[in-house]
Amino acid sequence: MIHSVRLLSGYDMPTVGLGTWQAKPEEIENAVSAALECGYRHIDTATNYNNEDAIGRALKKWFEKGGAREEIFITTKLPHFGNRPSDVEKFINLSLERLGLDYLDMYLIHMPFAFKLDEKTLTAATHEDGSYILDFDTNPLAVWKEMEKQVKSGRARSIGLSNFNEEQITAIWESAQVKPSNLQVELHAYMQQKSIRELCKKYNIIVTAYSPLGSPAAKTHFRTKYNYDLDTFPDLLNHPIILEIATRHKKTTAQVLLRYLLQLGIVIIPKSSSSERIKLNIDLFDFALTEEDMTLLSDLDKDVHGRIFNFLFFKGVQDHPHYPFKSELP
Ligand SMILES: NC(=O)c1ccc[n+]([C@@H]2O[C@H](COP(=O)([O-])OP(=O)(O)OC[C@H]3O[C@@H](n4cnc5c(N)ncnc54)[C@H](OP(=O)(O)O)[C@@H]3O)[C@@H](O)[C@H]2O)c1
Repeated sequence: MIHSVRLLSGYDMPTVGLGTWQAKPEEIENAVSAALECGYRHIDTATNYNNEDAIGRALKKWFEKGGAREEIFITTKLPHFGNRPSDVEKFINLSLERLGLDYLDMYLIHMPFAFKLDEKTLTAATHEDGSYILDFDTNPLAVWKEMEKQVKSGRARSIGLSNFNEEQITAIWESAQVKPSNLQVELHAYMQQKSIRELCKKYNIIVTAYSPLGSPAAKTHFRTKYNYDLDTFPDLLNHPIILEIATRHKKTTAQVLLRYLLQLGIVIIPKSSSSERIKLNIDLFDFALTEEDMTLLSDLDKDVHGRIFNFLFFKGVQDHPHYPFKSELP
């Protein structure tokens, strides 16, 4: 049985989805098929992940076998290099074409800041050293107006935000005709986003946790792709308190981390390319954490000090007027 939450837009969003960042196309096609076979009905992707084509192939196979489009929830995101009103329709159309769909269930603005677009390749324009060229003229409210048009045209059923801070969410909320119904942010035991969750509760915005396991592979990715190292990196899967809770419930530490977020009413999108772990990551509905477990897990929160994705691997991003984490800079 699929567990879902009702969005402000009136549509239902399955509470467990498959994350797909950092999954190579060949690997993701199999992962999505495996996920659909074992009951997932929600897939999270983005233009930036370069795997929408492969996800589209897996979906096509699923529909050919009789799977219904209505039962599947697909999220994708407007890339940071398409963050201007004139590019929204172009990028949503590109995503729809790659995914082989005629509507999206959720379209998110991936980041509040922006990079210049290379019109030829439709990717980020780069400096000679390969770093992205910032676009300082971003206007999130104007971009949001274009997002609203995607709902009116039927290309997206629901729209939302990702990586926006509280002030930025409020600004969109206050100006919006079609309200954001989803916020996707980094959220795991070390960064529990208590304050942003309160704000979203007030606005009836469903929160989706990205990197719910603490993104164990991100460290290597940041180092190899951007030559960027974080001083500290979480290892939640081997945390002694989580290990103890997992042993008591005869579950894995990953399952405890995921179940914790579900019990808080948060949607989760763990990524895996292993069919075994894909199964484990949705096998979360036959146990419940006790109040005591919930307190132990709540106490692990390091607030913004637990953040992995500060985006400082994008050279100079902290100088962008819409960089969301300015207050955390040293
Ligand atoms: N909006 C944004 O800016 C943003 C940013 C980051 C991520 N996201 C989304 O959120 C999704 C999830 O975040 P994430 O990929 O950063 O991190 P994550 O889901 O916290 O962790 C994924 C990593 O954990 C491993 N893993 C998965 N299940 C496991 C298990 N049961 N036991 C042990 N290891 C396990 C995976 O390896 P294997 O594949 O080998 O299992 C993978 O390396 C992304 O894929 C993406 O869709 C969005």
